[in-house]
Amino acid sequence: MKTRAIITFVLFPVCSWMVTASALAGDKTDSLERAAGMERFRQAASAEYVGSESCEVCHEKEFKEFQLSTHARIALPGENLKAQGCEMCHGPASAHVEEGGGRGVGIVNPKKDPAACFNCHQDKRLEFRLPYHHPVLEGKMSCTDCHSAHGEEIRPWSTTTLVDINEVCFKCHKEQRGPFVWEHEVIREGCTVCHKVHGSIHEKMLIARDSNLCLRCHTQVNFPTIGKSSHAGRLASGTCFSAGCHTAPHGSNFDEHLRY
Ligand code: HEC
Ligand code: HEC
Ligand code: HEC
Ligand code: HEC
Ligand code: HEC
Ligand code: HEC
Ligand code: HEC
Repeated sequence: MKTRAIITFVLFPVCSWMVTASALAGDKTDSLERAAGMERFRQAASAEYVGSESCEVCHEKEFKEFQLSTHARIALPGENLKAQGCEMCHGPASAHVEEGGGRGVGIVNPKKDPAACFNCHQDKRLEFRLPYHHPVLEGKMSCTDCHSAHGEEIRPWSTTTLVDINEVCFKCHKEQRGPFVWEHEVIREGCTVCHKVHGSIHEKMLIARDSNLCLRCHTQVNFPTIGKSSHAGRLASGTCFSAGCHTAPHGSNFDEHLRY
C-alpha cells in the first residue's frame, strides 16, 4: 500500500514533468521523432480510452502477466488520467476493440519504435544518443530485447537467481558466457558492473575508460601492489585491460590472471 502511495504522489508528477520537459527541450531530430511517435497516438486519439479490462477477453496472456508489472501501478495525472494500464503504451484503443482487433488496427506496438517509452522515459533517449550505444534508435533492436514489457521483471538484472542476471545479454553475446576455466568472479554480479548498456561516452560502453574501471575493486592497502605483485610501472603503461595485460576481463581458458 505504502509503495503504491509513493508511486502515486511522487513518481507520477515526476513522470509528467519528464513529458513536459521533453516537449520543451530538444533539437530538430527530437521534434521529428517525437512528432512521429505522438502522431500515432493522435491518429488513434479519435479513439477513446476503454480501460485494460476490455483487453482481457482477447489478450488473456498479456493481461495476466501485466498485473504484477511496475507499470500496472502507474496512474497519470490530469487529462491523461485515463491513459493507464495497457493504453499508456498502446494508445487509446476503442477503434481496435470495435474492429475486433488485429495487427496495425488502431493500436500502437512499441516493439518497432520506442517512442511510446520515451513519452515518459525521455532521459533514456539521451542515453541511446551517446557515442557508444546499443542500436535501438537505429531500429536494429528494441527495448524489449532486454526488458519484458508486461512481466513482473521488467528489470532483467533483478531476477533472483544469479544465473539469470546476465542471461538476457547472452542471447546475443555468447562469447562472454563461458564457461571459463578461470572465471572473473565479478561477472556474476552482472554485466552492468562494468558496462552502461543503454549508452556510454566510453568505447565498448564501459563505465570508465581507464584503470579506474578495475581499481574500484582491486585497490588494496599496499597499493600499487595488486594481488602479490607491484603494479606501479604497469599502471603507467596503459589500462588494466589493454596494453597486453588483462585482455580477458570476462574470463579465460588459458591464464588464471586473465591475461589472454
Ligand atoms: C475482440 C478481440 C480484441 C480485443 C478486445 C483487443 N484486441 Fe488487441 N488484438 C486482437 C487481435 C485478433 C490481434 C492480432 C493478433 C495476431 O495477429 O496475432 C490484436 C493485436 C494487438 C496488438 C498487436 C498490434 C500490432 O500491430 O502488432 C496489440 C498491441 C494489442 N492487440 C493490444 C490490445 C489492447 C491494449 C487491448 C485493450 C485496450 C486490445 N488489444 C483489445 C484482438 C483484440
Ligand atoms: C510499458 C508499456 C506497455 C504496457 C503498459 C503494455 N504493453 Fe503490450 N506491448 C508493449 C511492447 C513494448 C510490446 C512489444 C513486445 C515484443 O513483441 O517484444 C507489446 C506487445 C503487445 C502485444 C502484441 C504481442 C505480439 O504477439 O506481438 C499485445 C497483444 C499486447 N502488448 C497487449 C497488452 C495488454 C493487453 C496490456 C495491458 C494488460 C499491455 N499490452 C500493456 C508494451 C506495453
Ligand atoms: C506513461 C508513462 C510510461 C510509459 C509509457 C512507460 N513507462 Fe516505464 N516507467 C514509468 C514509471 C513512472 C516508472 C516507475 C518509476 C521509475 O522507476 O522510473 C517506470 C519504470 C520502468 C522501468 C524500471 C522498472 C523498475 O522495476 O524499477 C523500466 C525498465 C521501464 N519503465 C521501461 C519502460 C519501457 C521499455 C517502456 C516502453 C515499452 C516504458 N517503460 C513505458 C512510466 C512509463
Ligand atoms: C541491451 C539491453 C537493454 C536495452 C536494449 C534497453 N535496456 Fe533499459 N536497462 C537495461 C539494463 C541492464 C538496465 C539496468 C541498468 C543498471 O542497473 O545499470 C536498464 C535500466 C532501465 C531503466 C531503469 C533504471 C534506470 O536506468 O533508470 C529504464 C527506465 C530503462 N532501462 C528503460 C529502457 C528503455 C525505454 C529502452 C528502449 C528505448 C531500454 N531501456 C533498452 C538493459 C537494456
Ligand atoms: C538483441 C541482441 C542484444 C542483446 C540482448 C544485447 N546486446 Fe549488446 N550488442 C548488440 C549489438 C547489435 C551491438 C552492436 C554491435 C556493433 O555495433 O557492432 C552490441 C554491442 C555491445 C557492446 C559493445 C561491443 C563493441 O564491440 O563495442 C557491449 C559491451 C554490449 N553490447 C554488452 C551487452 C550487455 C551487457 C547486454 C545485456 C544487458 C547486451 N549487450 C545485450 C546486441 C545485443
Ligand atoms: C570486470 C568488468 C567487466 C564486466 C563485469 C563485463 N565486462 Fe564486457 N568488457 C569489459 C572490458 C574492459 C571490455 C573491453 C575489452 C577491450 O577493449 O579489450 C569489455 C568488452 C565487452 C564486449 C566487446 C567485445 C570485446 O570482448 O571486446 C562485449 C560484447 C562485452 N564486453 C559484453 C559483456 C557481457 C555480456 C558481460 C556480462 C556477462 C560483460 N561484458 C561484463 C569489462 C567487463
Ligand atoms: C566489482 C568488483 C570488481 C571489478 C570492477 C573488477 N574486478 Fe577483478 N576480481 C573481482 C573479484 C571479486 C575477483 C576474485 C577474487 C580475487 O581474486 O581477488 C577478481 C579477480 C580478478 C583477477 C584474477 C585474480 C588474480 O589472481 O590474478 C584478475 C586478473 C582481475 N580480477 C582483473 C580485473 C580487471 C582487469 C578488471 C577491470 C577490467 C577488474 N578485475 C574489475 C572483482 C572485481
